[in-house]
Amino acid sequence: MLRLTRRYPFAASHRLHSDQLSAEENARLFGKCNNPFGHGHNYVVEVSVSGVAEEASGMLTRREDLDDFVHKKVLTRLDHANLNTDIPELENVVPTTENLTLLIQSWLAGAWSEFAGGNLQLNRVRIEETGRNSFEVKG
Ligand code: NI
Repeated sequence: MLRLTRRYPFAASHRLHSDQLSAEENARLFGKCNNPFGHGHNYVVEVSVSGVAEEASGMLTRREDLDDFVHKKVLTRLDHANLNTDIPELENVVPTTENLTLLIQSWLAGAWSEFAGGNLQLNRVRIEETGRNSFEVKG
């Protein structure tokens, strides 16, 4: 089994706050990230696809096909978004990078039949929130 991974940067802002918790508990849990004005991140999302290389091309897929699919399904929605207010799926969800990772995975998996390299599997979605934090979910 071969795996191809492509990396895509995007910028977005969020405020970590749960309506289910008290002001004190939000402050304790999220610290500076609970600041009412929010803050931004330069995220990097990695999308990995796996499968068998086509014999004629020797490739898993054209890079451009994966790039177009990720742009259309993920980056156009997230780049320069306010994750608290611009993304209907994150309404009533704390926009942690954990939840963002799961959302991106569900967008890609849900539209997988539109991906030109559809004989491949979605193998992994990984997000770097900062140089020190990353989260990943199996495809
Ligand atoms: Ni943050």
